[in-house]
This record gives sequence, structure tokens and C-alpha cells, in this order.
Amino acid sequence: MGKIKWLGHSCFEIELMNKIILIDPWLDGNPKAPVKASDIKKADVICVTHDHSDHLGDAFDICKRTGATFVSVYELSVYAQEKGVKETVGINIGGTVNVKEIEISMVRAVHSCTRGAPAGFILNGEGKTIYHAGDTGFFGDMRLIGEVYSPDVALIPIGGYYTMGAREAAEAVKLIKPKVVVPMHYQTFPVLASSAEDFIKAVTEKLPQVKVVALKPGEIYQF
Ligand code: NI
Ligand code: MN
Repeated sequence: MGKIKWLGHSCFEIELMNKIILIDPWLDGNPKAPVKASDIKKADVICVTHDHSDHLGDAFDICKRTGATFVSVYELSVYAQEKGVKETVGINIGGTVNVKEIEISMVRAVHSCTRGAPAGFILNGEGKTIYHAGDTGFFGDMRLIGEVYSPDVALIPIGGYYTMGAREAAEAVKLIKPKVVVPMHYQTFPVLASSAEDFIKAVTEKLPQVKVVALKPGEIYQF
């Protein structure tokens, strides 16, 4: 059974193979986070898509406290080491690693960052595949991501301003063809979309075969 809990913004706590994987754990200072970083007692793997503070967030603290392995683009993993994180895996776009029985692939994201390059992640375990798109605009190769990895669940940004908005995100879903899509990166700041309504409407109208699961912060989706 795969389990996905939304912790607000782009942060998800995912359970696969009895392991806990956190992606983009920005909790302290995140107005939508239902928990504080100190509430996270157990984590096995922490994946960070890029070094913007709303994604890197509390990753180093949680890694040091729980012994979780930090997975990111190479340059960001070097920075994590400099900041005292012991277990790091620094890969790059196109690479796949097996970390604690979870297969993790890094894919492209069209965005900016300071260290290395922004990325998305594909997680695979128990025969389930989850795609976390990171912060990104839409791009044609999302079709390839869909074809090569066949994600069951896609976590994609819909808030606009810094990433895709509802219209672009609906086009992205068309390319990725997941079974389920979970919107993220909205509602957090005044400049981001205040609800998932436009996205849900666009996907429901154009892609009735894709299920939209708009979680509330703290809510869990099992699949
Ligand atoms: Ni960003
Ligand atoms: Mn962001």
C-alpha cells in the first residue's frame, strides 16, 4: 500500500516499502504545514528538488536528527555535506539510484536555482510509481516522463507565478498521463492560486480518465 500525505506547499510524506520518504520538507515557516519540523521523528530518505528555501526548508535539520539519507542534484548534495549532513546521494538528471530499497530517478524541471539544476523525482517501490515534478513550467518532454516511468500518481505544481498555473498544469497532465494527479504549490503565498478549482475543472473537462485528488494539508491518500 502506498501512502501520500501532503504537508503543504510542495512537501509530501510518502510511505513505500515501509520506508518514509520526505520530499521538499519546508515545514517551519510554512503557513500551510500541519506539523513543525521537530514533529518529524522518523524519516528514511529526504529528496529535495532544488535549493529554494520553500523546498530545501528543514531538510538538513531533519536529516541530522533522523539519520535520513539526503538525495538531490550533485551540487546541492555537496552543500548538504558542508552543512554537516552525513548521508548524501548526489545524482543528476537522468540518473537512477536505489536508496534503502526505493528506486529514485531524477528528471528535468524547468525552473531556476542557485546550486546545480532544478529537478523532479520519480519514486518507485512496491510496484508503485510517484512523480514529484518539483517547481516547473510545462515542457514537451513530460510526455517522455509519462511514457518511460508510467507514474501512478503525479504531484504537480499548479499555483502559477513561479511555476505552471492551472491551464499549463492541465496540459502537463495530458502529457504525463498519470492515473491520479495531486496538485501542489498553491495557496501558500498571496501570489499563488488560492484554490485548485480551476485546475480541477480543466482536468475533469479535458481528461476525465485522470482522477484529481486535491488534498488538504495533513490529509493522506492511499493507493
Ligand atoms: Ni523554486
Ligand atoms: Mn517553490
